[in-house]
Amino acid sequence: MTKSEPTPAKKVFIKTWGCQMNVYDSERMTDVLRPLGYGVTDTPDDADLMVLNTCHIREKAEEKVYSDLGRLREIKETRAEAGLSTTIAVAGCVAQAQGAEIMRRQPAVDLVVGPQAYHQLPELIARAHRASGERLAADFRPNEKFDALPAQRTPSGVTAYLTVQEGCDKFCTFCVVPYTRGGEYSRPVQAILDEAKSLADQGVREVTLLGQNVNAYAGGLANLVRRIAEIPGLDRIRYTTSHPSDMDDELIAAHAEIPELMPFLHLPVQSGSDRILKAMNRRHTAESYVRLIEKIRAARPDIALSGDFIVGFPGESDRDFQATLALMREVTYASAFSFKYSRRPGTPASAMPGQVPEPLKEERLAELNQLLDDQQRAFNTAQTGRTLDVLIERPGRHPGQIAGRSPYLQAVHLDGPESLIGNIVPVRIEAAAKMSLAGILFPPARREGGSARSDETGGPLGHSPTLAALRPVPPDKREGEILA
Ligand code: 5AD
Ligand code: SF4
Repeated sequence: MTKSEPTPAKKVFIKTWGCQMNVYDSERMTDVLRPLGYGVTDTPDDADLMVLNTCHIREKAEEKVYSDLGRLREIKETRAEAGLSTTIAVAGCVAQAQGAEIMRRQPAVDLVVGPQAYHQLPELIARAHRASGERLAADFRPNEKFDALPAQRTPSGVTAYLTVQEGCDKFCTFCVVPYTRGGEYSRPVQAILDEAKSLADQGVREVTLLGQNVNAYAGGLANLVRRIAEIPGLDRIRYTTSHPSDMDDELIAAHAEIPELMPFLHLPVQSGSDRILKAMNRRHTAESYVRLIEKIRAARPDIALSGDFIVGFPGESDRDFQATLALMREVTYASAFSFKYSRRPGTPASAMPGQVPEPLKEERLAELNQLLDDQQRAFNTAQTGRTLDVLIERPGRHPGQIAGRSPYLQAVHLDGPESLIGNIVPVRIEAAAKMSLAGILFPPARREGGSARSDETGGPLGHSPTLAALRPVPPDKREGEILA
């Protein structure tokens, strides 16, 4: 064992019957289980997890499995008396043929998995651990890029993140989050409202509700957004990140009905190929995603869409990749994140055949990014000539400049006094680049006394009476539409 591999916290005992295929599968199982904290043992007595990898070929195979299970049950009971929990799994062909029957005949069995066992094993083990309230001793190397929510921060400005949900029950086969962060958990509404009020009291005007599956918020994200929208001062609400299968009708309707809910949605799709989506365990097809987007756009036609894409998932062919490009063309995104598939040991995809060579991943990523860049530029360019409500967040890079965000989350730079920070002001967009917009305060003549700086009483966050003139009435349905 190398130094970087910690001593396994748990032990797995695997008994393998039959063909070479089963021997291979058993090896893959130990591979995917290692990062979940399991080391191999060849005695069932000290095993926290016992796997019988069965074979159907020989006669009486089933009876042998049942007699072994009887023995394992006794060990499980002895261990239980010593306060140790044990998971018994049946894999392989017998499991495939008689899944339900096995669980019925031998209730000590916790899970049954078919011959493609090792692909599902991490998910099933993690679920079994959750069911028994145990923590999985997962050993996943941290990779902030994929796994982390944006860092929680005390508001230093006028925008803030607010965690409302953590964890994930989806088990996409490439992802470590369900293992590292555990199951979906939603914070109580009142705790969130209290925090949101306190943020508003500190001058925050915009909150982004955070969660690995934020739209799976228990009790409905739409309801939560509605309650937060009632808090005086909080004029902008966003949320990230969402799973397509939790995008319910109420939340879609909220985009049409709640003016504080900004017209921006990050809705990862990962791939445009149904074959790959299935291997990813995404629970949606390209078609169902596109239909969903149509529904969302019917509710909020100007919504800016963002997404996550993975290129080079195991088994991704040229055709699959073309399907991803086609989906991107059909949906058209305002921005998006794109990733090369990265093998995370312990996740089901890491043990899948057909791993894509690195240079091919690079090539596909470059092609995808080219299309994304074009779409992002086009989306930004389409804003020129429009007047957008911009929440001024900070001084700009040059003296006399300030910067903020449009309803569509675009960075906007303009000339203006720093005292405008914390205000939502109309800005006429004059120029667009890939990452940002430039504009002018509109209408410029509205500034009182020639400069909004003349009133400092509102403090750095600018809740001043004078500036109220500049601040459009709390955003109504106009938000994001042409004001001029
Ligand atoms: N390889 C590549 N991309 C990944 N993501 C998560 N895990 C992986 C991985 N193993 C991406 C997905 C997800 C985003 C947060 O990170 O696109 O939506
Ligand atoms: Fe990971 Fe998101 Fe899939 Fe959950 S829904 S497994 S967090 S990619």
